[in-house]
Amino acid sequence: MEKTMSHFDSVTLAPADPILSITEAFKADPNPEKINLSVGVFVDDSGVTPILETVREAEKRIVKTNATKSYLPMTGSPNYAALTQRLCFGDALADSLGSRIVTAHTPGGTGALRVAADFINANLESKNIWLSNPTWANHKGVFAAAGLQAKSYAYFDQATLRLDYPAFIESIKAIPAGEVVVLHACCHNPTGADLAPAQWDEVAAIAAETGWIPLLDFAYQGFGTDIEGDAHGVRAFAKSGLPLFVCQSFSKNIGLYRERVGALQIVTGSEDETKRVVSQLKIAVRTNYSNPPAHGGVIVETVLGDAELRARWIEEVAAMRTRIHQVREQFVDSLAAAGVSRDFSFLKDQMGMFSFTGLTKEQAITLREEHSIYIVDSGRINVAGITSQNLPRLTQVLKGILD
Ligand code: LMR
Repeated sequence: MEKTMSHFDSVTLAPADPILSITEAFKADPNPEKINLSVGVFVDDSGVTPILETVREAEKRIVKTNATKSYLPMTGSPNYAALTQRLCFGDALADSLGSRIVTAHTPGGTGALRVAADFINANLESKNIWLSNPTWANHKGVFAAAGLQAKSYAYFDQATLRLDYPAFIESIKAIPAGEVVVLHACCHNPTGADLAPAQWDEVAAIAAETGWIPLLDFAYQGFGTDIEGDAHGVRAFAKSGLPLFVCQSFSKNIGLYRERVGALQIVTGSEDETKRVVSQLKIAVRTNYSNPPAHGGVIVETVLGDAELRARWIEEVAAMRTRIHQVREQFVDSLAAAGVSRDFSFLKDQMGMFSFTGLTKEQAITLREEHSIYIVDSGRINVAGITSQNLPRLTQVLKGILD
């Protein structure tokens, strides 16, 4: 039969997502010994991503109290705004900033980034957005989709697999006033190489001097040092009186991945600025998804708004963080005990779920195709995916590949 013309003939095959496509391939792999170290999802030692106990409790309460499924306001509920501001900035700073903080409840951290990007494109003069080299594989796509031009600043030393602080500082000092600079507030994705508190203070001073605008991607609060310590950078900028964007995610720290819950916090210079910023933010929200999905947001409000549940949740975050730190230690020790010649001790110093292993793309492909071990092609691994069950095989395979 003759092929008929289709309006879709012009549709070309897009490249697969560098992170999520690896999990798709993992799911399709029949090997019972397969290991997924790609997407940033926490699993416990039995390989399960649990629903937090505090989330289960919150959902029980919500079932009893929920009275309507009518729309939320475009930027979400005022209570959600107040509670997420306090988590982000701390009580004292949230109080002193008062009406200078604008909040939008967004579908996940990615939603917060996209709303911020649309706001920047529509309202700020510069269309440049500065990203760390390397950065989260989706940053460039999100900002480009909103019409912004991605630029990159130095961050990581590929030779030592550690932060290159002098190169980073030199690079950000040269960024022009009025351009937006995306920084990872903690648990740098993909490298796990974070700034120390004093370094954050220096970076905030540089922003104040040069006049560039910070945008902090804050997806892992509580997974680095603790809830308050991980907010040091965000709060250093907020104290400096500069305009600031923060994109919060509750996927990891409240385990609400599939509920898509996040927030965009914008710190403005005055109450008058706040009015204008809110009005523009509503346009960005309305033209993307109208208003946020409620369920995950009510869970966040219930957990953060109840002193007893909030205290229990802080402990649950601490337990996830402790497991990640322990796994890092076990992984490095296991590689050393197996006689792997390369020194992986840098993995112990890195923060959060991710580390850059220094493995090449070819090695990542070999791991995937020959051993059913799934890591991102950049060599990034999600250390939280390592369990006592899969560690021995992972170690042996890596030894075989590296030595
Ligand atoms: C990751 O980097 O793996 C996570 O942030 C999940 C995602 O959406 O990519």
